[in-house]
Amino acid sequence: MLKREIGHSGIFVNAIGLGCMGLSEFYGPAVETRDGVALLHAAIDAGVNHFDTAQLYGMGANERLLGEAFHDRRDKVVIATKFGPVRDRQTGAFLDVDGSEANMRAAIEESLQFLKTDHVDLYYLHRVDLKTPIEETVGAMAKLVDEGKVRALGLSEASADTLRRANKVHPIAALQSEYSIFSRDIEDGSLKAVDEIGASLVAYSPLGRGLLTGSYTPDHTPQKGDFRSAATQPRFETEAFRANLELVDEVKAVAAAHNAKPAQIALAWVLGRGDNVLTIPGTTKLANLESNLAGADIGLTTSERDRLNALADRVKGARYPESRSSNINA
Ligand code: ATR
Repeated sequence: MLKREIGHSGIFVNAIGLGCMGLSEFYGPAVETRDGVALLHAAIDAGVNHFDTAQLYGMGANERLLGEAFHDRRDKVVIATKFGPVRDRQTGAFLDVDGSEANMRAAIEESLQFLKTDHVDLYYLHRVDLKTPIEETVGAMAKLVDEGKVRALGLSEASADTLRRANKVHPIAALQSEYSIFSRDIEDGSLKAVDEIGASLVAYSPLGRGLLTGSYTPDHTPQKGDFRSAATQPRFETEAFRANLELVDEVKAVAAAHNAKPAQIALAWVLGRGDNVLTIPGTTKLANLESNLAGADIGLTTSERDRLNALADRVKGARYPESRSSNINA
C-alpha cells in the first residue's frame, strides 16, 4: 500500500484512508453500531490506518462509533477529527461556526471522551470562522499540541491566504478540501499554498459523493436521510445530476482500458496530483472499500489525465448551495 506523510508531522498513513461521515449521517440512515464496528475493524485488516471523523457527524455519534471500534487497538490507527461548526443538539440545525478557544476546549474534551482516547492525531478546524482571526484559533489549537492532546493541526476548506497566515502561527500539516475529477477549484488557490507550506492535501469526496463511481442511474432518488438532493447539493438537482452522469461515461471509458472500476480511476486521478495528496473516500461497504484501495496502484497516462482533466469545467451545479458557501475556500 502506498504510504504518505501528513505534512511534516512524522505521521505516515496509507494514501487511501476512510472518510467515516456516511456511517452516521448525511448519506442515508446511520449504520448499526455492530455493523459499523465490524467495517472499521475490517478496514484495518484491509490496510486502512487513517480514519477521518468530526464532532459534526451525527453530533458525536460518528466519534462514538470510532471510539467503540478503536479503543482497544489505538496504536493501529491515525484518528483525525474536527471542530468548529455548532449545531442545535435537539434539532441538528446548523447555528454557527465557532473558532474560539472556549468552543475548541469544549469540543476536544468531548471528542477525546467519545473517541475513548487521550489524543487525537490530526485535529482540524472544520470550517473557517469568519469572525475569529485564524491566528487566534490556530494559536489555541497549538496549545493542544503542547498539552499532548493533539499531534498535528489541519484546516478544512481554507483559502490560500488563511493557510499561509495559519502556518505562521503553527505548522499546518494538512488542508482537507473537496478534490476530485469533478471538483478542481482549489488548484489555483489553496492547493498552491499547500505545496508552498509543505502540507498535505487530504482530498474528501474524491468520488464526487458517489457520482464518479458509475453506480448511479438517471432515475436515482435519494433515500431518507440522504442529503444529496437539490436543496443541499446542487450537483444532485435532477437536471444537473443527469448531465453530470453523462460526464461519468468518460471515467468509465478510462476505467475499461485499465480493467478497473470508475471509483478506482477517480482515486488514482486524485493521488496522481502529487506526493503530498492523500484521500479519504467514504463507504459503508467492505466490498467497496477493498475495491477502492486498489485505486492506489493504478497509474494513469498523460492522455488519460488530460481526458479526465477536461471534465471539471463541464460539471453542472456548485459544490454547495449559496447559503453554505461562505465558509468554503474561506
Ligand atoms: P465522501 O467523502 O463525502 O464520503 P465520496 O467518498 O466522494 O464522498 O463518496 C462516497 C459515496 O460513494 C458513498 O455514497 C458510497 O456509498 P456506499 O456506502 O454504498 O459505498 C459511495 N461509494 C464509495 N465507494 C464506492 C464504490 N467502490 N462503488 C460504488 N459506490 C461507492
